[in-house]
Amino acid sequence: MGNMKLNLKIWRQKGPKDTGAMKTYPVNDVSEDMSFLEMLDVLNDNLVRKNEEPIAFDHDCREGICGSCSLFINGEPHGPGRGITTCQLHMRKFKDGDTIHVEPWRSAAFPVIKDLAVDRSAFDRIQAAGGFISVNTNGNLVDGNALPIPKVDADTAFDAATCIGCGACVATCPNGSAMLFVSAKVSQLSLLPQGRPEAKERVLNMVEQMDKEGFGNCSNTGACEVECPKGISLEHIARMNREYMVAGVTKK
Ligand code: SF4
Ligand code: FES
Repeated sequence: MGNMKLNLKIWRQKGPKDTGAMKTYPVNDVSEDMSFLEMLDVLNDNLVRKNEEPIAFDHDCREGICGSCSLFINGEPHGPGRGITTCQLHMRKFKDGDTIHVEPWRSAAFPVIKDLAVDRSAFDRIQAAGGFISVNTNGNLVDGNALPIPKVDADTAFDAATCIGCGACVATCPNGSAMLFVSAKVSQLSLLPQGRPEAKERVLNMVEQMDKEGFGNCSNTGACEVECPKGISLEHIARMNREYMVAGVTKK
């Protein structure tokens, strides 16, 4: 387990209105067993000791669940490696002496708050527009097992539900499209009988909110599927498009 010296080029931006710029930071004593976020913790510790402003970046669970750790590393959302988030990226993916570029998500719909932290509340508003089901919570609930669901549907819905709302799909898309995220949220519910009563309203409202937030259109580059840490499939976009078309022509 050798120690590595790295040359970090990190986006610094004081606030939403600041133009921002890349700044260079050497960092020593990086263990290959550290996660990328732990390496940034070391750098921030050094900056604080020197009375310099630490680098702002989002993180929470640090185990690939919450979707907070949104960093664009060497031109890739969540950095090198597939099926992992930034917090699951280990420094052994890099070599001693490497220069590493670290930027925030770049999308008009995700404005920078500070340094590497962006505002992803657009996703929350899309979710609030329809990413739910209305259920009876008065205690007279039907047992979940009384409603048989084909295994293939349950599995596909579960796959869609693994989306953690990180926004890597938007960050990597040349159009800044949020179709992979929205389609995962639509599929997760529309595949299950509990999600069908509100299915039309849901897809129309969520797509309308997505457009209002300023995300771009999908042009089928497929970059989102490649970079998604949860392997969300483009098939969900196809399903959402079908749901949207049917809802549009059959709504009352
Ligand atoms: S679809 Fe994938 S990349 Fe997009 S928000 Fe969900 S988990 Fe992140
Ligand atoms: S900090 Fe939660 S997914 Fe990375």
